[in-house]
Amino acid sequence: MDDRHHHEIAKWERRWIALSGLMTLSFVILIAYSLATEGAHIAQSAARGNPQTLLQQAMFTDPGVRVVGPNQLQVSLVGQAFVWVPETIRVPQGAEVEFYLTARDVIHGWQVENTNLNVEVIPGEVSRLRASFDDLGTYRVTCNEYCGIGHQNMIGWIEVVPASQWAVETAAGEVMADASGAVDGESVYAANCASCHGPAGAGIAGAFPPLAGHAADIAVTDGGREYLVDAMLYGLMGPIVVDGVSYNGVMPAWAQLSDADIAAVLDHIVGLGGPAADPFTVEEVAAQRGRGLSAADVLAIRQQVLP
Ligand code: CUA
Repeated sequence: MDDRHHHEIAKWERRWIALSGLMTLSFVILIAYSLATEGAHIAQSAARGNPQTLLQQAMFTDPGVRVVGPNQLQVSLVGQAFVWVPETIRVPQGAEVEFYLTARDVIHGWQVENTNLNVEVIPGEVSRLRASFDDLGTYRVTCNEYCGIGHQNMIGWIEVVPASQWAVETAAGEVMADASGAVDGESVYAANCASCHGPAGAGIAGAFPPLAGHAADIAVTDGGREYLVDAMLYGLMGPIVVDGVSYNGVMPAWAQLSDADIAAVLDHIVGLGGPAADPFTVEEVAAQRGRGLSAADVLAIRQQVLP
């Protein structure tokens, strides 16, 4: 082959290489552009395991909306042939919502129309993603993975309502709003604590520590009462061991609850089992407020109280 042919071929090779490089570059730019303008909603895997075990977690035996902090909600959802449970989710406008999704039977696709929320929902896996809805209105949720004969009927709804209306209409909102008068510690507990620690305070081994008995033991320890109030007001984060089981999670701060709510819920928790303790007072809670502690500071206090 003479030189002329060689140059001819090399010229075309360079053009093709340049073209493929240009295409790759334009794909990267398009992805970067859409991430920058639309924001990313990338689902993470929060848990993996036996599908039946996952479905026995409190979050999924009673799926729906829960208040986990100031303007923060947790929403758990189960996809199954051919319905989203619960079918309708009501959230306040602008709240930070953390969705936890799993499937009961086969793979489904959770897609919220007119948003970029789109998650594969898989049996044996819990997908987690954060979102917030700034526009009022009703969003339709569809299933975008073929899951069987009724796939096209698998429709749900997300209703975004003004925060004030939401607080009035929901039980969780009522507890948040009820800052005065007689407080029922049991309902404060049911609305805020039971989803993680269980309705009777038994916890979930390895995920959420038990309260029944354990909280009462702390309450009768030196500095224990102050620590319990601190954990409510400022949360708790980091590695702890309860009854020989290790936990390394985050308890959110509950400072949005009133002093009366916190005193009442602590009475309820301490009353779940273990030694008897004096009732918590509003003054005891007020004394710990405004100290500006972090969840990590509370861990350090715990280490002093429970060496
Ligand atoms: Cu569920 Cu398609």
